[in-house]
Amino acid sequence: MTDALPIGAPVGAIDTPALVVDLDAFERNLTTMAAYAGARGLRLRPHAKTHKSAWIAAQQVAAGAVGVCVQKTSEAEALAAQGVADIYLSNEVVDAGKLARLASLAQRCRLAIAVDSALGIERLAYALRRAGSQAGVYVEVDVGHGRCGALPDAVGRLARQVVDAGLSFAGLQAYHGAAQHLRTPAARATAIAQATAAVHAAQTALARAGLGCPLVTGAGTGTFVHEAASGVWGELQAGSYVFMDRDYADNAPEAGAPRFEHALFVKSQVTSCGQERAVVDAGHKSHAIDSGLPRVWQRAGLEFFNGGDEHGILRGRNGGAPLPGLGETVWLVPGHCDPTVNLHERLVGVRGGLEHGVVERIIAVDARGCVG
Ligand SMILES: Cc1ncc(COP(=O)(O)O)c(C=O)c1O
Repeated sequence: MTDALPIGAPVGAIDTPALVVDLDAFERNLTTMAAYAGARGLRLRPHAKTHKSAWIAAQQVAAGAVGVCVQKTSEAEALAAQGVADIYLSNEVVDAGKLARLASLAQRCRLAIAVDSALGIERLAYALRRAGSQAGVYVEVDVGHGRCGALPDAVGRLARQVVDAGLSFAGLQAYHGAAQHLRTPAARATAIAQATAAVHAAQTALARAGLGCPLVTGAGTGTFVHEAASGVWGELQAGSYVFMDRDYADNAPEAGAPRFEHALFVKSQVTSCGQERAVVDAGHKSHAIDSGLPRVWQRAGLEFFNGGDEHGILRGRNGGAPLPGLGETVWLVPGHCDPTVNLHERLVGVRGGLEHGVVERIIAVDARGCVG
């Protein structure tokens, strides 16, 4: 049980399965991204949907971030309750009850929110007026993702409505989720060039409505170098860079772009051995498989196969690699970090490496399960 795990205990004492953060790699990721944004005069507002942890948000702010993004009302509440002071909900909320909660939250922290509809703006304005509170409002433009966001031409009308309702128009939300895992730099560059054109069209619509654009915010771990180079985005929202999951590692990197290290691992143990297979105690209750299966860490030739809820099956590629024996530790790099973190109550922070390190801290996943 990690509950009973004393600080200073060796990595070997961490019970399995456990979600472990390599703090040395994590800190290098933090500073690499902060330095990248800082050197270009860009604001960094990392997405806390990745880690859902107030302690990690505080590390990001200490490294230079202006605050964090969240995706859900309850996520904002959970992080604010643990002291996160500057939160942008980079998503649409139209439910009157949730908007009332956000208006109340805006009295306890600095808050901003995205909108993409006249009804959403109307309800947000009502909630803020009733609570006597203020929040920044970003109008989301669909830059190619095909999820939320208004078409560029509609952005002027929505921003005008924001201003006329007495709200503070903060700028444009422009995030291209579908571009993040395009595997080649050329494909990602093309997608963000199209996103840039959409932002330009939205800015033209704003000018037609007699409004300027204070800030364009967006970008993720897969594309941020392209948004940064565009001269259009002023704030980067990348989140996964702190942990760097297997799916992101499968992207071919841009030449000269900052590199991030795997910092999030599932520690697992071999509990059964069979013909040409070893079985570990970590299945998809320990790691999310929406973006594919985990990679076995530093055991060349071993491949992970889905063994169901509680099991993972390891086999040698082409029957070749030596299999781990009963009781041996096997480290897994999750396919997708965000939903993996959401499966765990805590992360075990380890200093000094996965082999010889010690437990330095237990990191609460404060917004675990906050999906509403
Ligand atoms: C609106 C928004 N911004 C930023 C991000 C961060 O992206 P990533 O974790 O891929 O860096 C996401 C991720 O889904 C997102 O939805």
